[in-house]
Amino acid sequence: MSERRPRLVLICGLPGAGKTTLAKRLEREMPAARLCPDERLAETGFSRFDEAARARIERDQWVHAQDLLTAGSSVVLENGFWERGERDEKRLRARELGAEVELRYLAVPLAELQRRIAVRNREPGSVVLTAEMLREWQGGFEAPTQDELDLFDPPMP
Ligand SMILES: Nc1ncnc2c1ncn2[C@@H]1O[C@H](COP(=O)(O)OP(=O)(O)OP(=O)(O)O)[C@@H](O)[C@H]1O
Ligand SMILES: [Mg+2]
Repeated sequence: MSERRPRLVLICGLPGAGKTTLAKRLEREMPAARLCPDERLAETGFSRFDEAARARIERDQWVHAQDLLTAGSSVVLENGFWERGERDEKRLRARELGAEVELRYLAVPLAELQRRIAVRNREPGSVVLTAEMLREWQGGFEAPTQDELDLFDPPMP
């Protein structure tokens, strides 16, 4: 019997791009452990906008992800990965650990992000984001180029 190598999946995209929706599907289908900073922030009583708490949780989850990959489990990380540097770090480290690594970039136009978030804002318990926040955040998002996408393993069939 051939053993599959563990796989790290990075889910990249702005709020409303569908990261959590996709990550939950992959969690079931791969299967994989899904690590989500937003959920951990909520569980531990921090605001989604607490950047210091987010940085700490992202560090902890990355340590946990490396342990899981070392133990042979696949992992889905839905951090958003706005910056090329973060994606490079994760790709190189996953390879060092002998894992495959995939980048799922959810490219969604701003108007569609705003439409989806307006719908989600109406769901009970959702953290309300505004159309203006989304517009501002778009300016800070470093979209992956095709050259970068080619550095990752192809998606699993
Ligand atoms: N492919 C899709 N087509 C249309 N709507 C979608 C799609 N994927 C997700 N949605 C809807 O868009 C909204 C946002 O999706 P989701 O919560 O998965 O995004 P997200 O990227 O995780 O956002 P955030 O960064 O704020 O957590 C949800 O209401 C979801 O049902
Ligand atoms: Mg999400």
